Amino acid sequence: MTTTAGTTAGPTARAGAHPLPTAPGALPVLGHALPLARDPLGFLSRLPARGDLVRVRIGPRTLVVVCEPELTRQVLLNDRVFDKGGPLSERGREVLGNALLTCSHAEHRRQRRQCQPSFQPPRMAAYAVSFTEAARTAVDDWHDGRELDVVPTMMALTVHTAVTTMFTTDAPAHAPLATSSLTDDIATVVEGVLRRALTPAFLRHVPTPERRRYDRAQVRLRTLLGGLVATRRTDADPPDDLLHALLSAGGLDSPDGTPRLTDAEAVDQLLTFLVAGVETTASALAWAWHLLARHPEVERRVHRELDDVLDGRPPAPADVPSLPTTANVLTETLRLYPPLWMMTREVTQDTVLGTFALPRGTVLGVSPYVIHRRPDVYPDPDRFDPDRWRDRRPDRAAYLPFGSGARKCIGDRFGVVQATLVLATIAARWRLVPSGGRPPRFSALSTLTPRGLRMRITDRGTRPTPGRPG
Ligand code: HEM
Repeated sequence: MTTTAGTTAGPTARAGAHPLPTAPGALPVLGHALPLARDPLGFLSRLPARGDLVRVRIGPRTLVVVCEPELTRQVLLNDRVFDKGGPLSERGREVLGNALLTCSHAEHRRQRRQCQPSFQPPRMAAYAVSFTEAARTAVDDWHDGRELDVVPTMMALTVHTAVTTMFTTDAPAHAPLATSSLTDDIATVVEGVLRRALTPAFLRHVPTPERRRYDRAQVRLRTLLGGLVATRRTDADPPDDLLHALLSAGGLDSPDGTPRLTDAEAVDQLLTFLVAGVETTASALAWAWHLLARHPEVERRVHRELDDVLDGRPPAPADVPSLPTTANVLTETLRLYPPLWMMTREVTQDTVLGTFALPRGTVLGVSPYVIHRRPDVYPDPDRFDPDRWRDRRPDRAAYLPFGSGARKCIGDRFGVVQATLVLATIAARWRLVPSGGRPPRFSALSTLTPRGLRMRITDRGTRPTPGRPG
C-alpha cells in the first residue's frame, strides 16, 4: 500500500514522483563515507543545493537526507510511517536495549508514559536546585589564570548533575558514581554508537582496542545501574529522585493501565538518559563559552543581565525567566551547533514525501544542522545572533535541536534549565577566554562537540555576597 506521508503530497505528486538526486563525491565501495568522516559539516551544508531529498551512500547502505523544513516536519510528526530505524537506531539498540530513544512506534507510547513522570514540571524544580549546586561545586577550586579543557570540564559537571538528580548520591556508599571513569564510560559509549553506525558490518566485530574499551564501558555502566536499581527496590524509605519517579510510574493503580518497569527495563532507560542527556548538554555549554568569547558585545550584555538580576547572589531556579539574554544565547548556540546533528528514520510502508516516492525500508536522515543553516529560514545563517530570538519563538519545523513530534527529547527542559543555570552561575563570576590558537575539532563519530577547546579562566571580580543564598 502506498500512502502520502504529508499534507503537501497528493495524487499529482505520486504520479510525477522524481528520481532522487545523489550527493557529489561518492567513491567506489565506500560511497560518501570518507567525505562525511573528514568534513561532516561541510558535506552536509552542500546537500540542500542538490535537492529537497538527497541520496548519500555509506558503504553498501543508502541514507536519504531530508534537506527541506516542511518535509522534515512531516517525517518527524508521522512516527508510524517514519519509525525509528536505520544505522543509528540499530547500533543504539545494541547498547541501550529497546528503550525510549531506540524503541519502535509500537512500543513508544507505553514507554513514554512510564518515563514522563520523571520529567514533570514539579520535579524539574527540585532538579534545578541540583543544577546550581553542581555548577557551584565545579567552580569551587577555579582560580584566575587557570586553563581548562572545556568539553571534559562541562562533561564532569553534567555527569555530576545527572548522578545527583537521578540517584541522590550524597550517600557515601555511592561516592564512586561521581568519578571521572563514569564520564569516560558515557563518552566512550556515545562515540561507540556513532562510530558503529558509520562502520560497515564486516568491520564492526573486529576486536580492536577501541572495541574492547567500548565493550568494557557498557558492562561497567550496566553493572553500576543494575546495582542501583536492585538496592533501591529494597529501600524502605527511598529518596524522592528521578530513579524513584521512574520505578513508581504506572502499576496497578495507573489510570491507563500502564505497567511498571521491570528492573531490566529500568536499567535500559537510565542508561538511555545518561547516554542521551550528558554529552548533549555538555556540548551545548562548551559551544556557548566558545561563542561568548568570540562575541564580546554579547558577553557584556549577558554579564550586565546577570549583574542586574542577581546583584551578587548565586542564581536560583526562579531566576531563569528573568534571564532572557542568557536564554537567547543558548537558543542560538543550539541552532548553530545542534549536538545531535543527524537522526535516522526507516520508512515502514511505501509512501510519497513531497514529490518523491519512497519504498518501504528506505532509511532517512534528518539533520537539524542542515535545516538550521538554511538562509531562507535563518537570514545570515552562520552568524551568531542571539537577538534573532528576541521577538521570535523557536518553531517546530525549523528549530530542531530537540527533534519534534512524539519522539521529541523528553529531557529538553532538563537540558535547557540546566544549561541556563550553569551558564549563569559561572558567568556571574568568571569569564572564559580563548587560550591556544587551534580551532576546536569536530568529528562525525561523535555528537557535534568542540573537542580540544581550551580556555583560560578570568575572575570578573564579582564575588557572591556572603550569606545571600540563591
Ligand atoms: C541540550 C541537551 C539535549 C539535546 C540537544 C537533546 C537532543 C535530543 C534529540 C534531537 C532527540 C530526538 C532524537 C530523535 O528524534 O531521533 C532526543 C531524544 C531524547 N532525549 Fe534528548 N537532548 C538533550 C538532553 C537530554 C536530557 C538531559 C535527557 C535525559 C535526562 C535526554 C533524554 C532523551 C530521551 C530519553 C530521548 C528519546 C525520547 C523519545 O523518543 O520519546 N535528552 N534528544
